[in-house]
Amino acid sequence: MSGAKPIAVVTGGAGFIGSHMVDLLLANGYRVRILDNLQGGHLSNLAHLQNEPDVHFEQGDIRDLAAESLLFRDVQHVYHFAGIGDIVPSMEQPIDYMATNVQGTVRVLEAARSGGRHTLQRFVYAASSSCYGLAATPTLEDFPIQPQYPYALSKNLGEQVVLHWRQVYDMPVNSLRIFNAYGPRVRTTGAYGAVFGVFFRQKLAGKPYTVVGDGTQTRDFIYVTDVARAFYMVACSDREGEIYNVGANNPQSVLRLVELLGGEVIFVPKRPGEPDCTWAETAKINREIGWYPQVDFPTGVRTMLQDIARWNDAPLWDPESIAKATESWFKYLGKER
Ligand SMILES: NC(=O)c1ccc[n+]([C@@H]2O[C@H](COP(=O)([O-])OP(=O)(O)OC[C@H]3O[C@@H](n4cnc5c(N)ncnc54)[C@H](O)[C@@H]3O)[C@@H](O)[C@H]2O)c1
Repeated sequence: MSGAKPIAVVTGGAGFIGSHMVDLLLANGYRVRILDNLQGGHLSNLAHLQNEPDVHFEQGDIRDLAAESLLFRDVQHVYHFAGIGDIVPSMEQPIDYMATNVQGTVRVLEAARSGGRHTLQRFVYAASSSCYGLAATPTLEDFPIQPQYPYALSKNLGEQVVLHWRQVYDMPVNSLRIFNAYGPRVRTTGAYGAVFGVFFRQKLAGKPYTVVGDGTQTRDFIYVTDVARAFYMVACSDREGEIYNVGANNPQSVLRLVELLGGEVIFVPKRPGEPDCTWAETAKINREIGWYPQVDFPTGVRTMLQDIARWNDAPLWDPESIAKATESWFKYLGKER
């Protein structure tokens, strides 16, 4: 490894967004240390970096991370992506979500505080737009926090922890609330969830797309390299202690995605607690950081389709298996309040 390069730690760097973050940091001359337990991520996401001397991969769990971990020694930037991202299973495994997304974040902060005590310039947390719950749109950073399910709560508690470490320990932190990230290497875990994984596998199998609700609901999809660039630009900026939305400010309907993919549809019941529209107001990050997305939705979907074979091994969902996977969701969130 070359001596003078700045050091970045990327937790969850074998995952979807984290692996793109690693690529961007290398392109900007960083030595990158990755911590990932491969629970949701895959080494294949880093295969193209096999002979890259500036990458160090450590398989490990943030829940066991020691404050004195050498991985964080003399670190300049920490990008904290490690976490459990599947939304639906959080209903049945709240303990795991809290342990990883909240207590795990405490451990990463402590390791960064110790290892980076003379060097740390920025700690950037991957928060989630799910904290806004059923919000008015377009949604601003100071809108009410109203998590609807344990995943959303755990990510928001993680954000509060990060900001608390700034208040108490003067850690230089930022929190970025990601809307719906999509792009190459998007998660293909066994859990039912993100629309891209579900639809791509169905397309490969020639099966109808299982559209939730009537498909007119919209999501503010944001391409993954734009997300990574937002994290990097925020880390390099002089803005600190800030929360920023990261979305395209351009919601797309699920039916629009179907139109781009082509094929038949079949409808499954809408899940309670899920918003009809997510829409990031991004004026703050535009103005303060100068960040704007660069990849539009049709281009992003087209790029992903080039890699569709990757979904050959992903689970193939149909209305029956989806009903089973979301049973607890309807049981707990579908009741009258
Ligand atoms: N993808 C999105 O649209 C989105 C939206 C909002 C927030 N986020 C957040 O961004 C982060 C990255 O999301 P992603 O979509 O790339 O998911 P991902 O599952 O691909 O990446 C998460 C990575 O964290 C690793 N990980 C999980 N538990 C760990 C543990 N205990 N110790 C070490 N590593 C662990 C996984 O193996 C995986 O590589 C997550 O924290 C997620 O909550 C993502």
